[in-house]
Amino acid sequence: MSIDISNLDVTYGQEKVISGLSLAIPEGCFFTLLGPSGCGKTTLLRTIAGFVSASAGSISFSGRNVTQLPPHKRNIGMVFQDYALFPDKTVAQNVAYGLHARGEKGEGVTRKVAEALERVGLGHLGARHPAALSGGQRQRVALARALVIKPQVLLMDEPLSNLDAKLRIQIRETITELQREANITTVFVTHDQEEALSMSDLIGVMNRGAVEQLGTPQDIYGTPRTGYVADFVGAANRLPVQLHASDGRLAEATLGSVRIKATDALPGPASEGLLILRPEDLKISATPHDPMQSLPAMVKGRQYLGSKTSYRLELGDALQVVAELHGPGHDGFAPGDRVNLGIDPALARVIAA
Ligand SMILES: Nc1ncnc2c1ncn2[C@@H]1O[C@H](COP(=O)(O)OP(=O)(O)OP(=O)(O)O)[C@@H](O)[C@H]1O
Ligand SMILES: [Mg+2]
Repeated sequence: MSIDISNLDVTYGQEKVISGLSLAIPEGCFFTLLGPSGCGKTTLLRTIAGFVSASAGSISFSGRNVTQLPPHKRNIGMVFQDYALFPDKTVAQNVAYGLHARGEKGEGVTRKVAEALERVGLGHLGARHPAALSGGQRQRVALARALVIKPQVLLMDEPLSNLDAKLRIQIRETITELQREANITTVFVTHDQEEALSMSDLIGVMNRGAVEQLGTPQDIYGTPRTGYVADFVGAANRLPVQLHASDGRLAEATLGSVRIKATDALPGPASEGLLILRPEDLKISATPHDPMQSLPAMVKGRQYLGSKTSYRLELGDALQVVAELHGPGHDGFAPGDRVNLGIDPALARVIAA
């Protein structure tokens, strides 16, 4: 099933929470809605499911308009943030729920439930109650319950947020494996950028009820189009620059009182822009960098992080940047050191301010 959302508005009372949102999710895609708290992720997911109604616009599944259909007629599987398991039912009864609700009975239900539990690695726990399971096991029951009905669309609302870090990474893999195996079009909601980058075919970065940028994980991380996206996905230094010249590929700009070259990613001619520098793309050395352009800087602070060291540098003109060094000797500079900051024009992008 492909999902097509067109000019969608959703309002709660007077407040418009989703505004003119359009989005096309291809069949079989693992699509992630990524955005901060309150931006409308759950609302959009619940509107796709049919639990919240649209006040304008439409939602279609493979060309069929489902905007007015109730949830049980949309053939969706849903996994909620808090699992929403029935505490008084066993694991097997929880998984069987959706099948019973569709009027299925007997041997077929037993077999499908056993298969679904096997697929999430819980074949041996069917007789337990949810209270006697770990968080990760509960989450896998919720996943089995959503998948057992063979939905054409799988919707997941922050399904990993209640798990500890290790388990989160394990279940990430379980989810992506099951999704690829069944090739179910999936909409996954998270505010965790690492989850989004590692699991998705496509990511929609949401800001205040709209999708601000849509792209592959590589697009979103490598070529953010706005300062908001650059900052939300990965860390980014965002510095205001004055623009002088551009050949459409390289821009020349002034940062404080120094000139630098950067990749021109502006939609058109402009006199001001935002220079985006990823901390891991910056170099620091005692002598000037070649062939990269070098700016004099002073180390103001440093955090040793084991595999890397993060430095806070002052460039003069009250401009500060964070640079991260990896590899041997990454912790070799100290506060007070005068250093050279190396900026590779290919890894520095100027976007619209
Ligand atoms: N039932 C409701 N009635 C009124 N306002 C609501 C309702 N549900 C959500 N909102 C408001 O709509 C906005 C979007 O909420 P939503 O739950 O979609 O955000 P979210 O992106 O899922 O956030 P989070 O990451 O915290 O779960 C918020 O401002 C919220 O307060
Ligand atoms: Mg939410």
